[in-house]
Amino acid sequence: MASPPHLLTLADLSVKQLKSSLTHAAYLKRVSLPILQPRPHGSYTLFPPKTLSDKTIALLFSKRSTRTRLSAESAAHLLGGHPMFLSSADIQLGVNESLQDSARVIGGLVDGVFARVGDHSEIVTLAQHSPVPVLNALSSLWHPTQILADLLTLLEHLPSPDPLPTAPISSISPGHSIPADAVPGDLPPKLDFDVLKGLTISWLGDSTNVLHDMLVTYPRLGAKVRVAVPKEYPCPGEVWDRVVQLGCDKGIDWSDDPLRAVEGADIVVTDTWVSMGQESEKAARLRAFAGYQVTEALCKQGGAAEDWKFLHCLPRKPDEVDDGVFYGKRSLVWEEAENRKWTIMALFEYVPPFFLLVGCASWS
Ligand code: CP
Ligand code: NVA
Repeated sequence: MASPPHLLTLADLSVKQLKSSLTHAAYLKRVSLPILQPRPHGSYTLFPPKTLSDKTIALLFSKRSTRTRLSAESAAHLLGGHPMFLSSADIQLGVNESLQDSARVIGGLVDGVFARVGDHSEIVTLAQHSPVPVLNALSSLWHPTQILADLLTLLEHLPSPDPLPTAPISSISPGHSIPADAVPGDLPPKLDFDVLKGLTISWLGDSTNVLHDMLVTYPRLGAKVRVAVPKEYPCPGEVWDRVVQLGCDKGIDWSDDPLRAVEGADIVVTDTWVSMGQESEKAARLRAFAGYQVTEALCKQGGAAEDWKFLHCLPRKPDEVDDGVFYGKRSLVWEEAENRKWTIMALFEYVPPFFLLVGCASWS
Protein backbone atom coordinates (compact mmCIF):
# COMPACT_ATOMS: atom_id res chain seq x y z
CA MET A 1 0.00 0.00 0.00
CA ALA A 2 1.17 3.54 -0.76
CA SER A 3 3.15 5.58 1.74
CA PRO A 4 2.63 6.42 4.58
CA PRO A 5 2.79 2.91 5.94
CA HIS A 6 -0.42 1.56 7.38
CA LEU A 7 -1.17 -1.47 9.55
CA LEU A 8 -4.37 -3.23 8.55
CA THR A 9 -3.42 -6.76 9.68
CA LEU A 10 -0.44 -8.39 11.38
CA ALA A 11 0.27 -9.91 7.96
CA ASP A 12 1.69 -6.45 7.20
CA LEU A 13 4.46 -6.95 9.81
CA SER A 14 7.57 -9.11 9.47
CA VAL A 15 8.42 -11.58 12.22
CA LYS A 16 11.17 -9.26 13.34
CA GLN A 17 8.74 -6.35 13.59
CA LEU A 18 6.22 -8.49 15.50
CA LYS A 19 8.87 -9.47 18.03
CA SER A 20 10.16 -5.91 18.36
CA SER A 21 6.72 -4.48 19.01
CA LEU A 22 6.02 -7.13 21.68
CA THR A 23 9.35 -6.52 23.34
CA HIS A 24 8.60 -2.82 23.30
CA ALA A 25 5.15 -3.45 24.78
CA ALA A 26 6.71 -5.41 27.67
CA TYR A 27 9.09 -2.52 28.28
CA LEU A 28 6.30 0.08 28.23
CA LYS A 29 4.23 -2.04 30.62
CA ARG A 30 7.14 -2.34 33.02
CA VAL A 31 7.91 1.37 33.11
CA SER A 32 4.27 2.49 33.12
CA LEU A 33 2.78 0.25 35.78
CA PRO A 34 4.68 1.87 38.65
CA ILE A 35 2.74 5.05 37.96
CA LEU A 36 -0.32 3.15 39.06
CA GLN A 37 1.25 0.88 41.67
CA PRO A 38 3.82 1.73 44.37
CA ARG A 39 7.24 0.31 43.63
CA PRO A 40 8.44 -2.39 46.01
CA HIS A 41 11.77 -0.73 46.66
CA GLY A 42 10.34 2.77 46.34
CA SER A 43 13.51 4.46 45.16
CA TYR A 44 12.21 6.10 42.03
CA THR A 45 9.57 5.80 39.38
CA LEU A 46 10.15 5.22 35.71
CA PHE A 47 7.85 6.84 33.20
CA PRO A 48 7.42 6.24 29.52
CA PRO A 49 8.83 9.20 27.61
CA LYS A 50 6.22 11.61 26.28
CA THR A 51 6.95 10.75 22.70
CA LEU A 52 3.49 11.71 21.46
CA SER A 53 3.63 15.17 22.97
CA ASP A 54 1.70 17.62 20.76
CA LYS A 55 0.49 14.75 18.59
CA THR A 56 -3.16 13.91 18.02
CA ILE A 57 -4.43 10.46 17.15
CA ALA A 58 -7.97 10.31 15.79
CA LEU A 59 -9.84 7.28 17.09
CA LEU A 60 -12.51 6.79 14.43
CA PHE A 61 -14.90 4.15 15.77
CA SER A 62 -17.98 3.20 13.79
CA LYS A 63 -18.60 0.22 16.13
CA ARG A 64 -18.80 -0.13 19.90
CA SER A 65 -15.67 -0.81 21.93
CA THR A 66 -14.63 -1.12 25.55
CA ARG A 67 -11.12 -2.57 25.56
CA THR A 68 -9.75 -1.11 22.35
CA ARG A 69 -11.07 2.37 23.05
CA LEU A 70 -9.95 2.50 26.69
CA SER A 71 -6.57 1.04 25.80
CA ALA A 72 -5.97 3.52 23.01
CA GLU A 73 -7.10 6.55 24.99
CA SER A 74 -5.11 5.71 28.10
CA ALA A 75 -2.04 4.62 26.11
CA ALA A 76 -1.96 7.83 24.08
CA HIS A 77 -2.36 9.83 27.29
CA LEU A 78 0.56 8.05 28.99
CA LEU A 79 2.73 8.92 25.98
CA GLY A 80 1.73 12.58 26.21
CA GLY A 81 -0.45 12.53 23.11
CA HIS A 82 -4.04 13.57 22.52
CA PRO A 83 -6.48 10.80 21.61
CA MET A 84 -9.53 12.28 19.87
CA PHE A 85 -12.42 9.81 20.03
CA LEU A 86 -14.96 10.24 17.23
CA SER A 87 -17.84 7.85 16.68
CA SER A 88 -19.70 7.72 13.39
CA ALA A 89 -22.48 9.65 15.11
CA ASP A 90 -20.06 12.54 15.69
CA ILE A 91 -18.50 13.11 12.29
CA GLN A 92 -19.25 12.79 8.59
CA LEU A 93 -17.63 9.42 8.09
CA GLY A 94 -19.26 7.88 5.07
CA VAL A 95 -22.41 9.86 5.90
CA ASN A 96 -22.86 13.17 4.05
CA GLU A 97 -19.26 12.84 2.87
CA SER A 98 -17.40 10.04 1.13
CA LEU A 99 -14.86 8.05 3.15
CA GLN A 100 -12.27 9.15 0.63
CA ASP A 101 -12.95 12.85 1.27
CA SER A 102 -13.11 12.33 5.04
CA ALA A 103 -9.77 10.51 4.98
CA ARG A 104 -8.06 13.41 3.23
CA VAL A 105 -9.55 16.02 5.54
CA ILE A 106 -8.91 14.09 8.78
CA GLY A 107 -5.36 13.34 7.68
CA GLY A 108 -4.69 17.04 7.31
CA LEU A 109 -5.81 17.68 10.88
CA VAL A 110 -4.25 14.88 12.95
CA ASP A 111 -1.03 12.87 13.06
CA GLY A 112 -2.42 9.36 12.91
CA VAL A 113 -5.69 7.43 12.66
CA PHE A 114 -6.78 4.39 14.69
CA ALA A 115 -10.01 3.22 13.02
CA ARG A 116 -12.66 0.63 13.85
CA VAL A 117 -14.87 0.08 10.83
CA GLY A 118 -17.58 -2.22 9.49
CA ASP A 119 -16.61 -3.74 6.18
CA HIS A 120 -12.86 -4.12 5.71
CA SER A 121 -13.06 -2.17 2.43
CA GLU A 122 -13.77 0.94 4.52
CA ILE A 123 -10.38 0.89 6.23
CA VAL A 124 -8.71 0.12 2.90
CA THR A 125 -10.32 3.27 1.48
CA LEU A 126 -9.27 5.28 4.53
CA ALA A 127 -5.69 4.08 4.19
CA GLN A 128 -5.58 4.67 0.44
CA HIS A 129 -6.56 8.30 0.85
CA SER A 130 -5.08 9.21 4.22
CA PRO A 131 -1.90 11.30 4.24
CA VAL A 132 -1.17 10.02 7.77
CA PRO A 133 -0.75 6.43 9.04
CA VAL A 134 -3.88 4.35 9.57
CA LEU A 135 -3.96 1.52 12.11
CA ASN A 136 -6.79 -1.02 12.16
CA ALA A 137 -8.74 -1.08 15.45
CA LEU A 138 -10.98 -3.89 14.05
CA SER A 139 -12.62 -4.50 10.70
CA SER A 140 -14.84 -7.27 9.38
CA LEU A 141 -11.73 -9.25 8.37
CA TRP A 142 -8.93 -8.43 10.80
CA HIS A 143 -8.21 -7.49 14.43
CA PRO A 144 -4.43 -7.09 14.57
CA THR A 145 -4.11 -5.35 17.93
CA GLN A 146 -5.98 -8.20 19.65
CA ILE A 147 -3.44 -10.79 18.61
CA LEU A 148 -0.52 -8.69 19.80
CA ALA A 149 -2.16 -8.65 23.25
CA ASP A 150 -2.77 -12.40 23.09
CA LEU A 151 0.88 -12.96 22.24
CA LEU A 152 2.15 -10.80 25.08
CA THR A 153 -0.13 -12.72 27.46
CA LEU A 154 1.20 -16.07 26.28
CA LEU A 155 4.79 -14.91 26.47
CA GLU A 156 4.18 -13.80 30.06
CA HIS A 157 2.37 -16.95 31.17
CA LEU A 158 3.93 -19.88 29.34
CA PRO A 159 6.75 -21.31 31.37
CA SER A 160 10.12 -20.75 29.81
CA PRO A 161 12.40 -23.79 30.27
CA ASP A 162 15.35 -21.52 30.75
CA PRO A 163 14.23 -18.20 32.27
CA LEU A 164 16.04 -15.46 30.49
CA PRO A 165 17.77 -12.55 32.15
CA THR A 166 16.45 -9.05 32.20
CA ALA A 167 16.68 -7.36 28.83
CA PRO A 168 19.07 -4.44 28.59
CA ILE A 169 16.87 -1.43 27.92
CA SER A 170 19.26 0.02 25.38
CA SER A 171 18.80 -3.07 23.25
CA ILE A 172 15.02 -3.05 23.24
CA SER A 173 13.96 0.55 23.14
CA PRO A 174 16.10 2.75 20.96
CA GLY A 175 15.87 6.36 22.00
CA HIS A 176 14.69 5.56 25.51
CA SER A 177 16.92 6.17 28.47
CA ILE A 178 16.76 4.71 31.92
CA PRO A 179 18.00 6.11 35.23
CA ALA A 180 21.52 5.05 36.11
CA ASP A 181 20.31 3.68 39.44
CA ALA A 182 17.77 1.33 37.91
CA VAL A 183 17.70 -2.09 39.54
CA PRO A 184 17.02 -5.34 37.66
CA GLY A 185 13.47 -5.49 38.98
CA ASP A 186 12.67 -2.31 37.08
CA LEU A 187 13.48 -3.78 33.74
CA PRO A 188 11.22 -6.09 31.76
CA PRO A 189 12.20 -9.72 31.49
CA LYS A 190 13.56 -10.66 28.12
CA LEU A 191 10.69 -12.32 26.26
CA ASP A 192 11.36 -15.92 25.31
CA PHE A 193 9.79 -16.31 21.89
CA ASP A 194 10.93 -19.92 21.83
CA VAL A 195 8.03 -20.85 24.14
CA LEU A 196 5.77 -20.43 21.11
CA LYS A 197 7.65 -22.99 19.04
CA GLY A 198 5.73 -26.25 18.72
CA LEU A 199 2.79 -24.88 20.71
CA THR A 200 -0.66 -26.08 19.62
CA ILE A 201 -3.23 -23.30 19.52
CA SER A 202 -6.81 -24.41 18.94
CA TRP A 203 -9.73 -22.36 17.73
CA LEU A 204 -13.38 -23.35 18.03
CA GLY A 205 -16.15 -21.24 16.53
CA ASP A 206 -16.59 -18.70 13.79
CA SER A 207 -14.01 -17.58 11.23
CA THR A 208 -13.80 -14.11 12.74
CA ASN A 209 -11.45 -11.17 12.46
CA VAL A 210 -9.65 -12.45 15.58
CA LEU A 211 -8.98 -15.88 14.08
CA HIS A 212 -7.76 -14.31 10.84
CA ASP A 213 -4.92 -12.42 12.51
CA MET A 214 -4.01 -15.59 14.40
CA LEU A 215 -3.74 -17.47 11.11
CA VAL A 216 -1.22 -15.03 9.62
CA THR A 217 0.81 -14.77 12.82
CA TYR A 218 1.16 -17.91 14.94
CA PRO A 219 2.57 -20.23 12.25
CA ARG A 220 5.28 -17.66 11.49
CA LEU A 221 6.32 -17.83 15.16
CA GLY A 222 6.52 -21.62 15.12
CA ALA A 223 3.13 -22.49 16.63
CA LYS A 224 0.60 -24.85 15.07
CA VAL A 225 -3.02 -23.73 14.68
CA ARG A 226 -5.89 -26.23 14.74
CA VAL A 227 -9.22 -24.78 13.69
CA ALA A 228 -12.80 -26.03 13.87
CA VAL A 229 -15.31 -23.85 12.03
CA PRO A 230 -18.68 -24.98 10.59
CA LYS A 231 -18.57 -25.51 6.82
CA GLU A 232 -21.25 -22.83 6.33
CA TYR A 233 -18.86 -20.15 7.60
CA PRO A 234 -15.60 -20.64 5.69
CA CYS A 235 -12.53 -18.45 5.88
CA PRO A 236 -12.95 -15.50 3.47
CA GLY A 237 -10.83 -15.92 0.31
CA GLU A 238 -9.10 -12.56 0.82
CA VAL A 239 -7.85 -13.75 4.21
CA TRP A 240 -6.81 -17.21 3.06
CA ASP A 241 -4.80 -15.62 0.22
CA ARG A 242 -2.71 -13.74 2.80
CA VAL A 243 -2.34 -16.93 4.86
CA VAL A 244 -0.97 -18.77 1.84
CA GLN A 245 1.25 -15.88 0.71
CA LEU A 246 2.97 -16.01 4.11
CA GLY A 247 3.28 -19.81 4.02
CA CYS A 248 1.14 -20.05 7.15
CA ASP A 249 -1.24 -22.62 5.67
CA LYS A 250 1.42 -25.29 6.30
CA GLY A 251 1.01 -24.72 10.04
CA ILE A 252 -2.81 -24.87 10.06
CA ASP A 253 -5.16 -27.83 10.40
CA TRP A 254 -8.67 -26.71 9.32
CA SER A 255 -11.77 -28.83 9.87
CA ASP A 256 -15.32 -28.55 11.13
CA ASP A 257 -14.65 -31.00 13.98
CA PRO A 258 -14.24 -29.44 17.47
CA LEU A 259 -12.76 -32.66 18.91
CA ARG A 260 -10.13 -32.81 16.19
CA ALA A 261 -9.28 -29.14 16.75
CA VAL A 262 -8.52 -29.51 20.45
CA GLU A 263 -6.26 -32.55 20.05
CA GLY A 264 -3.02 -31.73 21.84
CA ALA A 265 -4.18 -28.15 22.52
CA ASP A 266 -1.95 -26.05 24.73
CA ILE A 267 -4.12 -23.00 24.21
CA VAL A 268 -7.83 -22.95 23.35
CA VAL A 269 -9.26 -19.76 21.87
CA THR A 270 -12.71 -18.68 20.82
CA ASP A 271 -14.75 -15.56 20.05
CA THR A 272 -18.40 -14.68 19.84
CA TRP A 273 -20.50 -16.61 17.33
CA VAL A 274 -22.35 -13.38 16.48
CA SER A 275 -19.89 -10.60 15.70
CA MET A 276 -20.91 -6.95 15.62
CA GLY A 277 -23.14 -6.37 12.60
CA GLN A 278 -24.36 -9.99 12.41
CA GLU A 279 -27.13 -9.65 14.98
CA SER A 280 -29.90 -10.44 12.47
CA GLU A 281 -28.25 -13.84 11.82
CA LYS A 282 -28.19 -14.79 15.49
CA ALA A 283 -30.73 -17.63 15.45
CA ALA A 284 -29.15 -19.36 12.44
CA ARG A 285 -25.68 -18.93 13.89
CA LEU A 286 -26.59 -20.41 17.27
CA ARG A 287 -27.90 -23.47 15.42
CA ALA A 288 -24.82 -23.79 13.20
CA PHE A 289 -22.36 -23.51 16.10
CA ALA A 290 -24.07 -25.99 18.41
CA GLY A 291 -21.37 -28.34 19.70
CA TYR A 292 -18.59 -25.76 19.43
CA GLN A 293 -18.84 -24.43 23.00
CA VAL A 294 -15.50 -24.60 24.84
CA THR A 295 -15.91 -26.76 27.96
CA GLU A 296 -13.69 -28.91 30.15
CA ALA A 297 -15.49 -32.02 28.94
CA LEU A 298 -15.01 -31.27 25.24
CA CYS A 299 -11.32 -30.49 25.67
CA LYS A 300 -10.77 -33.64 27.73
CA GLN A 301 -12.61 -35.80 25.18
CA GLY A 302 -10.62 -34.27 22.31
CA GLY A 303 -7.28 -34.82 24.04
CA ALA A 304 -6.16 -31.30 24.95
CA ALA A 305 -2.97 -31.00 27.01
CA GLU A 306 -3.41 -31.40 30.79
CA ASP A 307 -2.60 -27.77 31.49
CA TRP A 308 -4.28 -26.08 28.51
CA LYS A 309 -5.04 -22.39 28.88
CA PHE A 310 -7.92 -20.34 27.57
CA LEU A 311 -8.01 -17.03 25.67
CA HIS A 312 -10.97 -14.92 24.51
CA CYS A 313 -10.84 -11.40 23.11
CA LEU A 314 -14.04 -10.40 24.95
CA PRO A 315 -16.84 -9.39 24.99
CA ARG A 316 -17.89 -12.94 25.82
CA LYS A 317 -21.26 -14.68 25.55
CA PRO A 318 -21.85 -17.97 27.40
CA ASP A 319 -22.73 -19.63 24.07
CA GLU A 320 -19.11 -20.05 22.99
CA VAL A 321 -17.53 -20.89 26.38
CA ASP A 322 -19.12 -22.03 29.61
CA ASP A 323 -18.63 -20.34 32.97
CA GLY A 324 -16.40 -23.12 34.29
CA VAL A 325 -13.71 -22.45 31.70
CA PHE A 326 -14.23 -18.71 31.37
CA TYR A 327 -13.96 -18.01 35.11
CA GLY A 328 -11.75 -20.97 35.90
CA LYS A 329 -8.04 -21.44 36.51
CA ARG A 330 -7.20 -21.97 32.86
CA SER A 331 -8.54 -18.60 31.82
CA LEU A 332 -6.11 -15.79 30.96
CA VAL A 333 -8.82 -13.47 29.68
CA TRP A 334 -8.33 -10.66 32.22
CA GLU A 335 -4.58 -10.49 31.69
CA GLU A 336 -5.23 -10.60 27.94
CA ALA A 337 -7.65 -7.65 28.19
CA GLU A 338 -5.15 -5.57 30.16
CA ASN A 339 -2.43 -6.30 27.65
CA ARG A 340 -4.49 -4.57 24.98
CA LYS A 341 -3.23 -1.33 26.49
CA TRP A 342 0.49 -2.05 26.46
CA THR A 343 0.51 -3.53 22.99
CA ILE A 344 -1.50 -0.66 21.49
CA MET A 345 0.83 1.74 23.28
CA ALA A 346 3.81 0.05 21.64
CA LEU A 347 2.18 0.35 18.23
CA PHE A 348 1.42 4.03 18.72
CA GLU A 349 5.03 4.70 19.48
CA TYR A 350 7.02 2.21 17.63
CA VAL A 351 5.76 0.30 14.64
CA PRO A 352 5.67 1.39 11.02
CA PRO A 353 2.32 3.12 10.93
CA PHE A 354 3.16 5.41 13.77
CA PHE A 355 6.91 5.64 14.04
CA LEU A 356 6.54 8.63 11.76
CA LEU A 357 4.70 10.33 14.59
CA VAL A 358 7.64 10.22 16.87
CA GLY A 359 10.34 10.58 14.29
CA CYS A 360 11.98 7.23 15.03
CA ALA A 361 14.86 7.00 12.66
CA SER A 362 14.62 3.29 12.12
CA TRP A 363 12.38 0.33 12.59
CA SER A 364 13.85 -3.07 12.97
N1 CP B 1 -11.52 -7.27 22.28
C1 CP B 1 -11.99 -6.11 21.87
O1 CP B 1 -11.64 -5.58 20.80
O2 CP B 1 -12.88 -5.53 22.72
P1 CP B 1 -13.72 -4.22 22.43
O3 CP B 1 -14.66 -4.51 21.30
O4 CP B 1 -14.43 -3.92 23.72
O5 CP B 1 -12.76 -3.12 22.05
N1 NVA C 1 -15.38 -10.89 16.29
C1 NVA C 1 -15.81 -9.89 17.22
C2 NVA C 1 -14.64 -9.34 17.96
C3 NVA C 1 -14.97 -8.30 18.98
C4 NVA C 1 -13.74 -7.77 19.68
C5 NVA C 1 -16.54 -8.80 16.47
O1 NVA C 1 -16.09 -8.43 15.38
O2 NVA C 1 -17.56 -8.31 16.95
